[in-house]
Amino acid sequence: MRSLKKVMALGLASTMVLSLAACGGGSTETTAAATTAAAETTAAAEETKAEAEATDAAEETAAEVAEATGDFDASNVKVGISIYKFDDNFMTLYRTELERYLTEDLGFKAENITIQDGKGDQAEQSNQIDNFITAGVDVLILNLVQASSAPQVTDKCKEAGIPVVYINREPDAEEEERWASEGIQATYVGCDARQSGTFQGEEILETSNGGDINGDGKVSYIMIQGDPENVDAQYRTEFSVKALTDAGVEVEELFIQRGDWDQAKGQQLTQDALTQFGDEIEVVFCNNDAMALGALQAIEAAGRKVNEDIYLVGVDALTECVQNVLDGKMTGTVFNDHIAQAKSAADTAVKYLKGESVDPVNMVDYVKVTTENAQDVLDALK
Ligand code: BGC
Repeated sequence: MRSLKKVMALGLASTMVLSLAACGGGSTETTAAATTAAAETTAAAEETKAEAEATDAAEETAAEVAEATGDFDASNVKVGISIYKFDDNFMTLYRTELERYLTEDLGFKAENITIQDGKGDQAEQSNQIDNFITAGVDVLILNLVQASSAPQVTDKCKEAGIPVVYINREPDAEEEERWASEGIQATYVGCDARQSGTFQGEEILETSNGGDINGDGKVSYIMIQGDPENVDAQYRTEFSVKALTDAGVEVEELFIQRGDWDQAKGQQLTQDALTQFGDEIEVVFCNNDAMALGALQAIEAAGRKVNEDIYLVGVDALTECVQNVLDGKMTGTVFNDHIAQAKSAADTAVKYLKGESVDPVNMVDYVKVTTENAQDVLDALK
């Protein structure tokens, strides 16, 4: 609709210029006058065209914003956002999309949105939250450094009358229940990490030998974990293996270490495990793609070949990893839909601002990514 309107506006303006310029007479003078007139007309037409386009674009943006937010006017609303640390591949994608969606689709003003880097330090992040409260933001979107700090943070926000949308790092169930039972304006937007773990396990089960490369009747794996305080790390670790055991497959855990979601740590740990266990390792489970990228470096350096003598799976669907799946360098990944999560987080913040009721937990689905759909996922991500 948007592009169609623009194409039509452009077509109309150029037709105007062409027919007006064609009105020139026979003599040089007339031709010169006609040229000047035509030039002026062209300039005028271009101005009209630019104005028409600007009005058109403004109308479309207004229409889109109205469609997304109803009668709500976001232009003076102040939003405070804190991300657990900027130096995280996945949260960088999420943060960029969140900012884009708030400004472009919902009509928030960029100068009213403050995004802080928690730098992986809960004390630092708690200060940022205090400052947001003092500055009188209207709503908070928080990616906590430590999900366990949610009760204290929630109480502060409640006292200040500021609704809070937690993202990515889920507070525990007891805390979420408290929001509902005490009518606190706090909510969580994220994904159920059990689903991503299960999908990882299924990706291994779906290989030609179900993960048992050496045919000894069991799947021997190593587990590279995210930050174990984070429920995403806990659930992915548990449910990836559970998918295998639920299918009646015997498993052997050779190695499990925390890589804190970090590529360099993923590489180091996989290298250590390969040195210690060599060919015994059949599967490398990584709680996220950043660590899987590191694991792949170690696997290649050790002369091993993914999908031939070792399997490798991650979570997030970073474009580099989806490409790796296509190229046979990763067995699979799982799309951690940062686009839908950013949208849901921002829409939920708007619900609070409009005085609507909000569920305490709002989940977005993960999507399994294998060679079959990797190209589609890549196209959608670009
Ligand atoms: C993502 C990780 C990310 C972590 C941050 C997880 O859901 O899969 O890549 O590092 O969130 O909390």
